[in-house]
Amino acid sequence: MHSPTTLNAWQALTQHQKDMSAVKMASLFKEDAQRAQKYSVNAAGWTLDYSKNRANEKTFSLLTELAKASGLENAIEGMFSGAHINNTEDRSVLHVALRASHAQDTLIVDGVNVLAEVRSTLKQMEQFVAQLHNGDWKGHTGKTITDVVSIGIGGSYLGPKVVAEALTPYKNDDIKVHLVANIDGSDITGKLKQLNAETTLFIVSSKTFGTLETLSNANAARDWFLRNGGSESGIRQHFAAVSSNVKKAVDFGMAEENIFPMWDWVGGRYSLWSAIGLPVAIAVGMDNFYALLDGAHQMDEHFRSAPFEENLPVIMGALGVWYINFHNAQTHALIPYDHYLRAMPAHIQQLDMESNGKANLLNGDGVETDTGPIIWGGAGTNGQHAYHQLLHQGTRLVPVDFIAPLASHNPIGDHHAQLFANCLSQSQALMVGKTLEQAEKELRDAGATDEQVAKIAPHKVIKGNRPSNTLLTDKMTPATVGALIALYEHRTFVQGTIWGINSFDQWGVELGKVLGTDIFNRLVSDSDNSALDASTQALIDAFKKAQS
Ligand code: F6P
Repeated sequence: MHSPTTLNAWQALTQHQKDMSAVKMASLFKEDAQRAQKYSVNAAGWTLDYSKNRANEKTFSLLTELAKASGLENAIEGMFSGAHINNTEDRSVLHVALRASHAQDTLIVDGVNVLAEVRSTLKQMEQFVAQLHNGDWKGHTGKTITDVVSIGIGGSYLGPKVVAEALTPYKNDDIKVHLVANIDGSDITGKLKQLNAETTLFIVSSKTFGTLETLSNANAARDWFLRNGGSESGIRQHFAAVSSNVKKAVDFGMAEENIFPMWDWVGGRYSLWSAIGLPVAIAVGMDNFYALLDGAHQMDEHFRSAPFEENLPVIMGALGVWYINFHNAQTHALIPYDHYLRAMPAHIQQLDMESNGKANLLNGDGVETDTGPIIWGGAGTNGQHAYHQLLHQGTRLVPVDFIAPLASHNPIGDHHAQLFANCLSQSQALMVGKTLEQAEKELRDAGATDEQVAKIAPHKVIKGNRPSNTLLTDKMTPATVGALIALYEHRTFVQGTIWGINSFDQWGVELGKVLGTDIFNRLVSDSDNSALDASTQALIDAFKKAQS
């Protein structure tokens, strides 16, 4: 793999950016009455309107050429067929197999039919969820389970969290699902305070069963259970696990039949479709979980088969590259105009930043381009009263994805029309901005003096021409939520492929873990810290002093 900068399309895009620098999006709309239709595409229950971008036909044709020249077609096929595209860990990347159509029953990877394993795990989940919902699963004193606490972090937390929240209208009322992640004792303490040990079931979600935060919280939950009338033999009725490390889970006290498998071909941040999604399945039921998988599968099929010119993940990924590498955009904002989707930016942040926060090409050479942007965002309209000021008038270019359902699950008064109006007006304002002449006229019309106009008008100028995508769906359902998250997974892969990096390892996270263990040992012992930097020494001393 060579740097994408060596590709003709890259060089052509560099030149093209200069040609486009004076072009205003608003003029592109005036010149082409069909622009909105031309740059809208549907897939898996979603419509992407990408017409409000600093792009014309030539831009899109060069971006498509770039995607092709980077080997994206082969990369997609490699992923779906189980090639070891995670080259630094020598693994397949098969989250798509977790949601494969039931019409397909075989996918042999490294001599194993992974679909047989996926299906048997889904059956195991079905039984588990049914036992909880029909009250057959009893705690150690014979009482029915009322609360499930999922303990996990990173991908073993964020994906289930965003989906469980997004599907709030589909939740069953008979069992409450809680999620704990942070090693900060306040997280689990707050949750346990509300719970009864006789009627609570914990699911320890950890692919490795070796993650410090998760094990600390699992041990705290175990101690709490034992302190509150539980016994060692009762642990099997109150603890289950999702892990590829069965031995460690058994050593913890779980019954082997309550351990759900994970595989090394599923990355943590892509794992919500596996048994890591158990909290979702318990919250909304297995039928809705299957609908979620099916929605994601619809997006997979679209990604695999649609021409790049009509392919949502490819279009969104390529546009991201256009802004990051040719307009120096450092960040990308996700703004869902749906209260239940408010955690989505955090999940896509992990998905994208852990995947594409890389500085080496697949062959190990250093990259010559910027790679993954900072992903951020939050619920509209709340953000409008916080960070949108910077989107409109700040010095940085921030491409935005607006995400909105056409219908609300809670249609009260004119709330939804107001919410939707805000979504549309934000993308419109970002594009059209406000000229000095408009600002001056506005002030004059309001009765300002010439002196006031001269003083205030420049502050009211909004340059505009700021790009955004709008993603619309009829309603947030299990299927459309599944398709949306799969869209962002593939968008991440498209960008990683164009940059020539491995989107599926995460070696950078390891250094913090190793140093964290070393510092922890220093905090709890009388170690000689003189070889450490003076700042770290002083901070360790402050902690130790506070404990004494
Ligand atoms: O943050 C690093 C990471 O490895 C993620 O990729 C993963 O989702 C998370 O830690 C949790 O890992 P595990 O599921 O093994 O506990």
